Amino acid sequence: MEQALTSRLFFALWPDHGVRKAIASVAAQLPASSGRRVPAENLHATLVFLGNITETARHAMECAGEAVCGEPFHLVLDKHGWWRKPQVLWLGASTVPPDLARLVASLNGAAAQAGLETDPRPYSAHVTLVRKASRSANLDVQPIHWHVREFSLVESITDSRGAAYRVCRSWRLGD
Ligand code: 2AM
Repeated sequence: MEQALTSRLFFALWPDHGVRKAIASVAAQLPASSGRRVPAENLHATLVFLGNITETARHAMECAGEAVCGEPFHLVLDKHGWWRKPQVLWLGASTVPPDLARLVASLNGAAAQAGLETDPRPYSAHVTLVRKASRSANLDVQPIHWHVREFSLVESITDSRGAAYRVCRSWRLGD
């Protein structure tokens, strides 16, 4: 039987140049020994990870992105931490704005309706700074103010050098 073509996709907030620079400069405080630093061009906040999905599911997710009626919101990245199990150091938000929670819920709902498995854990807004981090790190974090006006569907392409991300589609919030 012919294999269905799949792509590895996720919905994300893709930082603009200024926010990306601010996040990258926090990451730059971390020594090389802290793990594998995420390249500045890859920094993002995942909304919903979809995994390897078929062309049909991808089309459903593009329609879902199109159908979202969200509002822009203000996200403040004001804390950092380390998760032992996935071994990541991250920058995150103490408060999830209600419009962000609604956006994630609506994308999760659309994914479930398309038969995709999504993360059942409560949403935690974060940007991964370092992977393969075996311990926590001290960081001096001045709050980064991110005015989020759009969200994206992103493809992850992995090769021997690691993951590269390609923004497939972006949708404005509030227009
Ligand atoms: P992260 O947001 O903590 O960095 C693409 O792989 C993005 O989807 C990454 O940013 C990653 O984690 C997030 N993601 C969430 N669940 C995942 C999973 N089960 N496998 C791979 N990536 C996942």
